[in-house]
Amino acid sequence: AALAGCSDSDASGDDDKIVMGFAQVGAESGWRTANTESIKASADEAGYELKFSDAQGKQENQIKAIRSFIQQKVDVIAFSPVVETGWDAVLQEAKAAGIPVILTDRAVDTEDTSLYETFLGSDFVLEGEKAGEWLVENAADADVDGDGDVNVVQLEGTTGSAPAIDRAEGFATAIAADPSIEVTASQTGDFTRDLGKQVMESFLNSEDGIDVVFAHNDDMGLGAIEAIEAAGLEPGVDVKIITIDAVHDGMEALADGKINFIVECNPLLGPQLMDLAEQVIDGEEVPERVVTEETTFTQEQAAEVLPDRQY
Ligand code: AHR
Repeated sequence: AALAGCSDSDASGDDDKIVMGFAQVGAESGWRTANTESIKASADEAGYELKFSDAQGKQENQIKAIRSFIQQKVDVIAFSPVVETGWDAVLQEAKAAGIPVILTDRAVDTEDTSLYETFLGSDFVLEGEKAGEWLVENAADADVDGDGDVNVVQLEGTTGSAPAIDRAEGFATAIAADPSIEVTASQTGDFTRDLGKQVMESFLNSEDGIDVVFAHNDDMGLGAIEAIEAAGLEPGVDVKIITIDAVHDGMEALADGKINFIVECNPLLGPQLMDLAEQVIDGEEVPERVVTEETTFTQEQAAEVLPDRQY
């Protein structure tokens, strides 16, 4: 590890162990919980010392955590940025300290790509496109009230985050293929179940003829299900629901017919992250971008894979 020869105030007393500082977004969703577990278990398995920080959804907490990792002279910093912008200053500090940074899950918006070594995570634009393509293919069925228009309400992820920006963009691109499909209302539910429910309640009060909900993650879709049921409607039938993630609760709702389609976003990034960290510390070349492989699930496919689903 890069700690050899450093003083007692350094991150670890064990010079052989790689010390990783990981600044997590928070615990906003089932996806995030699975992601945190994957990172902790993989660090353990790889024999790394993991310094884990939960930013509780706040960028300033993540910046503080990164600064503290720099002070502790960790070998590598990995983090999943809450939002895309505002990282250049702290990343320059890490660079000046000679500590490599790996982005996981979410990207940063910067012109200086030398501020990080690699970015491991999903293609969020593609996820949004897959959701939109399914809707285009199933538009006739999704026109629940049969008025010739498919009215979609969108539950957006955290404002300013890469997945919220990219999924909305991918979805809009795909549905442009069918002019009968229109996003009639769109608001953030911050990737949480509670807010997804609240925003859906307000959509049900303010919007006429909602045919489809597109939720940027399962948790908000699950919140929307509660709101739809409370309004005396049948989710999956009276209102079609498309979500992204494919965590256990979402897959159960899909198999039960309450969600109609899920685009997978894989949270199990731990093993690849540990490999990349080792390569970076050893000075090996790593690809600038490592894209996670993902699939999609219909209701039938969810029922089939559920018994073996890890998370
Ligand atoms: O960045 C990945 C997204 O963040 C997941 O889709 C969502 O559930 C999480 O909160």
